[in-house]
Amino acid sequence: MCGIVGILAREAVAPQLVDGLKRLEYRGYDSAGVATLEGGRIVRRRAEGKLRNLEARLKAEPLNGVTGIGHTRWATHGAPTEDNAHPHATERVAVVHNGIIENFRELRAELEATGAKFSSQTDTEVVAHLVSKALEAGATPKAAVQQTLSKLRGAFALAFIFRGEDDLLIGARRGSPLAIGHGDGEIFLGSDAVALAPFTDEVTYLDDGDWVALTRSSVEIYDEAGAPVRRDAVKSSVASVVVDKGAYRHFMAKEIAEQPEVVGHSLTRYVDMTTGRVRLPQGADFDFSRLDRLAISACGTAFYAGLVARYWFERFAHLPVDIDIASEFRYREPPLAAGSLALLISQSGETADTLATLRHCKAKGMKIGAVVNVPTSTIAREADVVFPTVAGVEVGVASTKAFTCQLAVLAALAVKAGRDRNVLSEEDEQKLVSSLIELPRLMAETLHLEGEIEKLAQTFAKAQDVLYLGRGTSFPIALEGALKLKEISYIHAEGYAAGELKHGPIALVDETVPVVVLAPFDPLFEKTASNMQEVAARGGKIVLVTDAEGAKHAGDVFATLVVPTAYAFVNPLIYAIPIQLLAYHTAVFMGTDVDQPRNLAKSVTVE
Ligand code: F6R
Repeated sequence: MCGIVGILAREAVAPQLVDGLKRLEYRGYDSAGVATLEGGRIVRRRAEGKLRNLEARLKAEPLNGVTGIGHTRWATHGAPTEDNAHPHATERVAVVHNGIIENFRELRAELEATGAKFSSQTDTEVVAHLVSKALEAGATPKAAVQQTLSKLRGAFALAFIFRGEDDLLIGARRGSPLAIGHGDGEIFLGSDAVALAPFTDEVTYLDDGDWVALTRSSVEIYDEAGAPVRRDAVKSSVASVVVDKGAYRHFMAKEIAEQPEVVGHSLTRYVDMTTGRVRLPQGADFDFSRLDRLAISACGTAFYAGLVARYWFERFAHLPVDIDIASEFRYREPPLAAGSLALLISQSGETADTLATLRHCKAKGMKIGAVVNVPTSTIAREADVVFPTVAGVEVGVASTKAFTCQLAVLAALAVKAGRDRNVLSEEDEQKLVSSLIELPRLMAETLHLEGEIEKLAQTFAKAQDVLYLGRGTSFPIALEGALKLKEISYIHAEGYAAGELKHGPIALVDETVPVVVLAPFDPLFEKTASNMQEVAARGGKIVLVTDAEGAKHAGDVFATLVVPTAYAFVNPLIYAIPIQLLAYHTAVFMGTDVDQPRNLAKSVTVE
């Protein structure tokens, strides 16, 4: 994971490096560091923890060099200490790295056998030593990097600066993304266009295997075989503004509150509000009629959006769906039909496992569709058809608005598939679309439950375990509820299909365990209510999330949260809101770092 930046500037570069890193903190925040050339010598400043610690260090001990690299880390090899913070360096070279060097143990043993002294536990430090050794043997910086790259296995994006080379920055990518930013007499490298946005909107994306030697006035790109190649620059549409929290205490609170608006924005791209018909965005008008199956794959919250979508595609389009967690997809070795559709779902568009699945499916001749929030991301660029979500920048590490926007887009796609496959009539389509059009209003109404949920959160904050139950499309929302609570409050939580509880997990239930039951008053309500009674009989504290009719049939529960009554199709987007608010207020009550919870990163760029 991690974010990297490299800059050849005309003025002191450290503030710009930090500015770029701020936009990459979503990739990890275990430690941060920069290295610049001071009178030709490599000098580093590094700090454990968030970027603000590095800023404080730079304030106390400023750097003035105009050539530099920077890094924000999500620890893979070695604890998040200052010694393990990047850049890693010898006297001759400094390097920052995003990814994993898989053969670092062998390389390290070989280097140590020849006298190299290591000062960290990272995989990255071998890269610095290998380049250094090649330089000592007389290689030029370019040759030293090229020789080193040929020895590395794994996924990486790297950026190097060299002692005495004030006008040279070398970058390389294999597996992890890297982009060049073209400035006026200045040049930049960054993990993505977001990092480069404060400096330039003219960006060249490197292809996999490329490496590049940059000066302030030249760009030389080489492919994996070392042949010079041309990669065109494009105008990046990423805005350089840093989004702020406005009046909210946390980004997560703001992003939860924004959902009616951004779901509305996303829907306007997929449905015609006046005719009540689905109308896919330009360039994304996919025809589902000839598909035999659909393969969906994603990670975490995005995977749960896919799980909901499976119900929709199968019910409304009679399209069989295979769905896999992206990190498992390849290992199952599913038979894949050339010409069929793989649908990847990702907020960041950079998740390593989702990207690996995309490439795997592409290599098997499948068509690739991507429901993705960051339009400049690698997944968006490598997909054949992009189905954009319009959630805007999501900063909180726990995904909220991106999730409901994914659901909105997938819902529209399922209706489109239903029409293409002649399962839905025009009238069915209009009915489903009008329920989608109602969503922003219903979601806004659901947000009014916040006061009640805030009070409930005090009970949750005392729990050690929490269970979430749901049936049908409420089952994936139960999984999402448990994930949200775990990741920001650190309370153990599990989501189960309501009918599954009695097959084992009910053994966990006693009077200390809150059980959140997601049960709209639909044809499944009665069965879920029976499961709820099984829990109540064992003392479990039931919090029922339901609509007005469900509340009437609730029976004896600890608390009921009544959400607006909606057409069953759109319930997952409504029921997502109380479970997000519950996780949020529990975490706030417990005083955790809500927007940047421990051990996590917004974008998971390692497998
Ligand atoms: C949980 C969360 C993660 C992400 C997952 C996939 O709140 O945010 O589970 O959903 O890491 O990320 P994307 O959607 O960027 O591929």
